[in-house]
Amino acid sequence: MAVRFAEKLYEKYYAGDKARRGLFSALASWRAWEHVLYPGSFIHITASFLFPSVTYVDNDRNAKRFFSQMDEVRALVERNKVYQEAPQLTFHGTSYENRLDVPEGSFDLLLSLYAGFISKPCKRYLRMGGVLAVNNSHGDAGLASIDPDYQFIGVIQGRGDQLHREDDKLDAYFKPKKEIEVTEELLRTLGRGIGYTKTAPVYLFRRVR
Ligand SMILES: C[S@@+](CC[C@H](N)C(=O)[O-])C[C@H]1O[C@@H](n2cnc3c(N)ncnc32)[C@H](O)[C@@H]1O
Repeated sequence: MAVRFAEKLYEKYYAGDKARRGLFSALASWRAWEHVLYPGSFIHITASFLFPSVTYVDNDRNAKRFFSQMDEVRALVERNKVYQEAPQLTFHGTSYENRLDVPEGSFDLLLSLYAGFISKPCKRYLRMGGVLAVNNSHGDAGLASIDPDYQFIGVIQGRGDQLHREDDKLDAYFKPKKEIEVTEELLRTLGRGIGYTKTAPVYLFRRVR
């Protein structure tokens, strides 16, 4: 029953361009990341192709089944990874809203991609000075932009897999198209982010407190 289940599921959701490898490549070419936390990851193990140590969190049934085939998942990563060391993959099949069984302040990169408001409940696991890489699909980038614990330090710009980091002219970002007061309550009510005049596929924040 479990024969190549994990590989088939990964192919179904993340074959080819759907893997969004360019984002992880852009982040990996910026810095070497020691420990990466990926809440709401589903089975997006493309992160492990670029980062040696990734902790995945998802409460989806298929994600739990996928990661239960850890030998198969690890083999898939081994065939695709770009670094020398053995990959470290950990999975927590729970809500990222719950207290995770990982040490606080132990990650240097926190990913928030298409999976709700992660920046707030998972901030505690990011070390001081660590980086949040977040998109605005569900409004989480907007939430980070009004969170004083985060400092906006850059964006990942470009199209498709041709992505690169930029850290200039940041004042142009997070300007709402409509005159509106951006609050956590508004963002949570909308659940899809508000429109900004200048956007990026991914925004970068540093945890400053
Ligand atoms: C649209 S998928 C995105 C998956 C992946 N981040 C990506 O970019 O391909 C959203 C995922 O977030 C997960 N998710 C949503 N809320 C969650 C929560 N509170 N705790 C854990 N996972 C959650 C869902 O189970 C789902 O797998």
